[in-house]
Amino acid sequence: MAGEPAASVNVAPGAGLKIPRHIGVIMDGNGRWAKQRGKRRTEGHVEGVKALRGLVEHCITYGVPYLTVFSFSSENWSRPPDEVSFIFNLLRRFVASDLQRLIRNNVRVRIIGAREGLDHSLVKLIEDVEAKTEGNTGLTLVVAFNYGAKAEIVAAARHLAREVAAGRLDPDEIDEQRLGNALYTAGLPDPDVIIRTSGEQRLSNFLLWQAAYSEFVFVDEHWPDFNEASFVRVLETFTNRDRRFGGIGTAAL
Ligand code: FPP
Repeated sequence: MAGEPAASVNVAPGAGLKIPRHIGVIMDGNGRWAKQRGKRRTEGHVEGVKALRGLVEHCITYGVPYLTVFSFSSENWSRPPDEVSFIFNLLRRFVASDLQRLIRNNVRVRIIGAREGLDHSLVKLIEDVEAKTEGNTGLTLVVAFNYGAKAEIVAAARHLAREVAAGRLDPDEIDEQRLGNALYTAGLPDPDVIIRTSGEQRLSNFLLWQAAYSEFVFVDEHWPDFNEASFVRVLETFTNRDRRFGGIGTAAL
């Protein structure tokens, strides 16, 4: 139940749970959360940032090394301009309010997505955050911003095609690893779990390539309500999944 403490104080966080190496999150439902409370959609996004801050803390506490969150999709441009600029400002405010705390907590930040079409000052901010946290060795927080998976794959294909055209790459050398290395997520492990809040059950152009063997966990809560108890429930669900990666799994042995 929301708000309940997740674990007894005598139990180490995550004891008995399988801890995913990489969690991806589609933080859905900010607007509905706000509407249900008679608030503006933008207030839902503000609460969404608080839930994100909490999730970063839980990942650190429970020892999850990689977290990727979907914070603005390339399709979100179709929202009213006021809401789009609000979310953009939210990224700026998040950096302003949280960068020092992230650095103190040894968090490395990576921002993935198209930089084209973003304001020059925002691109500078993104580069600055990445540079300032580059040497950190704790949690890697990947923020998918102006991100769309199909566009990511197209960009990778173009890059490889250019390498071939320039005579630097033989088409027969193109394999999954090379294509994976041409994606924004180069160097990151694929997500073990993808969480989507708010009851929707789709990927919405998030990490399509990388999610080939991810476990999907759909939760009914709206994103601002996602707390430590929700997080632990996801870990429990993941622990109980039998991941087979195309094989027959342990249950069949
Ligand atoms: C989905 O809710 C949420 C978004 C599109 C924006 C997500 C942004 C945050 C959670 C804040 C963190 C952001 C940054 C930049 C660090 P929705 O608006 O789609 O909700 P609805 O489906 O109920 O309308």
